Amino acid sequence: MQSFSLIQPDDWHLHLRDGDALAAPVPASARQFARAIVMPNLKPPVTAVAEALAYRARILEAVPVGSSFEPLMTLYLTESTPVSEVARVAAEPSVHAFKLYPAGATTHSEAGVARIDRIFPVLEAMAYHRVPLLVHGEVVDSEVDIFDRETVFIDTQLAPLVLRFPGLPIVLEHITTEQAVAFVRSAPPNVAATITAHHLLYNRNAMLAGGIRPHYYCLPVLKREQHRRALVAAATSGDEKFFLGTDSAPHGISQKEKFCGCAGCFTAHAAIEFYASVFEAAGRLDKLEAFASLNGPKFYRLPVNSSRIRLVKSDWRIPGQYPFADEAVVPLMAGESLGWRFDGPEA
Ligand code: DOR
Ligand code: ZN
Repeated sequence: MQSFSLIQPDDWHLHLRDGDALAAPVPASARQFARAIVMPNLKPPVTAVAEALAYRARILEAVPVGSSFEPLMTLYLTESTPVSEVARVAAEPSVHAFKLYPAGATTHSEAGVARIDRIFPVLEAMAYHRVPLLVHGEVVDSEVDIFDRETVFIDTQLAPLVLRFPGLPIVLEHITTEQAVAFVRSAPPNVAATITAHHLLYNRNAMLAGGIRPHYYCLPVLKREQHRRALVAAATSGDEKFFLGTDSAPHGISQKEKFCGCAGCFTAHAAIEFYASVFEAAGRLDKLEAFASLNGPKFYRLPVNSSRIRLVKSDWRIPGQYPFADEAVVPLMAGESLGWRFDGPEA
């Protein structure tokens, strides 16, 4: 196939940052995606509807003229989130979900939840209003090996949660293991998962073999090849429980290449091309539209986009850096060639 079009995709998990750092990531996502679920892990975190609306307005200022990119806002759950905030979210069309960060699990998660039972009343209200819970699914226990943190979270936290709140829509974000795939597949229809491009493209050798590559370090961390294969099988299956969420998470070079570098891969510059490469390699390009453009809206009960985009088979070289705030960000596959190119909206 030399070119094809698909319904314009959405990104169901995205970090856009704030302040000076907003100017670069927003156009990168707005170029390809119609909508994106925007993560609330700013500093300080976005915990209330009023803050989410103010953040949304700042994002919209950074959207290029002519783009109709729509940021879908989320709130950051803390142990002091008032139950009353849930009804405010349910009544606000621009805010779509709450994000659960176990305290200490990842970037700017210090204000997250240390004990999940403390937010049970909020989760109950979310189940009642059918407001989705988006989960960073990793335990933070220092005794649990970092490669096992997702699996232990599923067994000890998520499985009981799914049983306790049967009506609660739950998205297990950026899944990385065959155990997560199996769990989501066998869970009831209110449980779904996003999958990133980097977890579909790479196993942990990309980060650790032959030298340590900080730009491949993200959380949850890349896993073994058997897990990558399970993710590819899930994403390309057409199963509506799995949909596109890049977790594109830019950090300036100075924050990545240091003695204790930040977690996050910037992938928005070529997101749909990365996914297309994975689906092509699996012989499943025909399933890309379900994963990228249909399954997410169905889960979130939003309309499917009416616009279309075109991808062409053509090699191009990814730049080594993109501007980011007052420095630069190194994108995924910096300096390498990619076989698919986003060709813009379909005329
Ligand atoms: O790699 C990651 N980066 N994982 C996360 O959970 C957070 C994100 C970020 O905000 O940088
Ligand atoms: Zn994320």
